[in-house]
Amino acid sequence: MDYDFSNKVVLVTGASVGIGESIALLFAKLGAKLSLVGRNEANLRAVAAECEKQKGVKPLAIVADLGTNEGVEKTAKDTLDHFGRLDILINNAAIGVSTWLLHETDMQVFDDVFRINVRGVYYLTKLLAPALVETKGNIVNISSIVATMVSVGSLPYSMTKAALDHFTRLISLELAPKGVRVNTVSPGVTVSEFVKRITGFTEEQYKEWLIKFSKKIPMGEPCTGDDIARMVVHIASDHSRLVTGTVVEVDGAYKFNGSTQTPLFDE
Ligand SMILES: NC(=O)c1ccc[n+]([C@@H]2O[C@H](COP(=O)([O-])OP(=O)(O)OC[C@H]3O[C@@H](n4cnc5c(N)ncnc54)[C@H](OP(=O)(O)O)[C@@H]3O)[C@@H](O)[C@H]2O)c1
Repeated sequence: MDYDFSNKVVLVTGASVGIGESIALLFAKLGAKLSLVGRNEANLRAVAAECEKQKGVKPLAIVADLGTNEGVEKTAKDTLDHFGRLDILINNAAIGVSTWLLHETDMQVFDDVFRINVRGVYYLTKLLAPALVETKGNIVNISSIVATMVSVGSLPYSMTKAALDHFTRLISLELAPKGVRVNTVSPGVTVSEFVKRITGFTEEQYKEWLIKFSKKIPMGEPCTGDDIARMVVHIASDHSRLVTGTVVEVDGAYKFNGSTQTPLFDE
């Protein structure tokens, strides 16, 4: 199967590192014109430069905090001003939090994780939906298997991803008559900065944790960013032209190990 995005403008949020970086690079290899968003300017510019090397197409790099109205509005405006259109929106940016349980929840942390993982996605999608209707484009939201796993721990983060999954279903129905598809790709444990950011693990500790954790994954290994990117590209491509409202899990069957303990850090 061929994937050709040379006529497509693709916006990837959280493209400065991790899964978003892998998604950006794969779209760049397939010829897409990219709008890339992140907060860390140096990382974002490095990813943009790497993308440009693939097919010589220079991405637009937007430094913005999607937890703020200004950041979301700047992202939408700069993308449309620069390219004049949008074909594919990848809502990937999110934060994890080290708040696991109800009784220990700091409500500021609760607000922060909902503001970035839910409100930011909702507002950006609202601003860009008219452009996607014009191109009969599509949206891929990056969720997590914790959205549907019933386990103790990661409470507010899991709730944001459950909200995102239902957002996908609801707006897929709203936008289907306008020719816009909306889907979710839900990663399991995936190699990125995510766990290091919430735990403070060093690179060495993270590698040890991944080896230990892999024993709980029926397929025996964590996902790479590229595993997630390949699924995103397939869903966003015309090969999936009637696929909408779905949640596709890429997790090596980890969710079936449905732990009742903290999903990431129990022994
Ligand atoms: N890694 C996993 O095991 C895993 C599992 C399930 C789901 N996921 C999901 O996969 C997606 C990508 O996560 P990841 O693992 O790649 O995490 P990551 O390595 O921590 O990267 C997160 C990305 O999101 C960006 N971001 C975070 N908050 C932002 C904000 N307020 N405004 C703009 N950009 C922001 C970061 O930008 P800066 O670094 O520039 O701030 C970074 O580019 C997330 O939706 C996450 O929930 C990850």
